[in-house]
Amino acid sequence: MKKYNVAVVGATGVVGTEIIKILEERKFPIKTLYPLASERSEGAVVAFNEQAVRVKNLATFDFNGIDFALFSAGGSISAEFAPKAANQGAIVIDNTSHFRMEPDVPLVVPEVNPDALKGHKNIIANPNCSTAQMVLVLKPIHDAVKIKRVVVSTYQSVSGAGKDAVDELEDQTRKNLNGKTVPASKFPTTIAFNVIPQIDVFLEDGYTKEEEKMIEETKKILGDESIRLTATAVRVPVFVGHSESINIETERKISPDEVRALLSKMPGVKVLDDPKNQKYPTPRDTSGDNDVYVGRIREDRSCENGIELWCVGDNLRKGAALNAVQIAEELAKLPVAE
Ligand SMILES: NC(=O)c1ccc[n+]([C@@H]2O[C@H](COP(=O)([O-])OP(=O)(O)OC[C@H]3O[C@@H](n4cnc5c(N)ncnc54)[C@H](OP(=O)(O)O)[C@@H]3O)[C@@H](O)[C@H]2O)c1
Repeated sequence: MKKYNVAVVGATGVVGTEIIKILEERKFPIKTLYPLASERSEGAVVAFNEQAVRVKNLATFDFNGIDFALFSAGGSISAEFAPKAANQGAIVIDNTSHFRMEPDVPLVVPEVNPDALKGHKNIIANPNCSTAQMVLVLKPIHDAVKIKRVVVSTYQSVSGAGKDAVDELEDQTRKNLNGKTVPASKFPTTIAFNVIPQIDVFLEDGYTKEEEKMIEETKKILGDESIRLTATAVRVPVFVGHSESINIETERKISPDEVRALLSKMPGVKVLDDPKNQKYPTPRDTSGDNDVYVGRIREDRSCENGIELWCVGDNLRKGAALNAVQIAEELAKLPVAE
């Protein structure tokens, strides 16, 4: 079996750390792993397959001989270094939003649109964490009864904003409980014991950039510009795991039981929907899992053909690292990567 040289850019961050863990868990065929970060972390050690591997400085790294470069160090870093890596022959799988909407860059969730990988030009984009878990759920419903409109509200964990955001929630929570206040730094206001209806910056029309990403990326991945979507993205004081309330209006009628049956067959999705026994997914119960969980599936009383459901996924796994590794696995099957 062919083995690959793999670079992980942003290897000390929450997504990079998870990528390395998942490469190991899934036994991705690695010849040499190159963890990369900024000068700040040069020489730090990450564990991979029971070995201590030293972090190298991205700024001085040569991508010649690298087969796959998995980027999660922020959009501006990808803008500068991903084209360089791609020109030096590496296939870049980028976790940032920088390339996602470029027409010649595939935006891929392998269970949904693996064919989009064909003919790639060495840069492939990984979707936004909230988009990735939602399209897994929308895809089989869209194929069965054609989705007309989606209304989604998210409840997104702080790890979606990186390691400093995780530290901020922990610090604020501890100090608030001791009667002290801590100024907000990663978030617009205090996140501990709060809910913040803003993720990313505001656009002219009042939507946020995060909401726009969910809307546009979903259409691109499902390959259907006719679906109408609206989103409200909210940050909640949860460490890992994004939750979404999704309202789906379809062209043809579909019953909750039919939705349960469709989603039970969808790879990467698990149905946990037993209201009589108060069983439904929560981020606390499902984070750390690879699957995206769905519950509270019911008919929308307010319209002709509507379904309401609740969807929970680990933003660091299916929302980022797992999806990126799955893309690398798909690419390793294509003749171009041989
Ligand atoms: N968290 C999520 O759920 C999620 C999901 C999807 C996509 N993403 C995207 O993934 C990216 C990283 O997210 P994260 O949550 O993992 O952030 P993070 O925890 O803050 O980690 C950032 C990583 O980038 C590195 N980095 C920062 N500046 C750098 C530079 N100048 N050169 C090289 N490396 C640099 C950091 O290394 P140092 O140790 O050297 O600072 C660290 O390894 C973001 O673009 C984010 O939007 C995140």
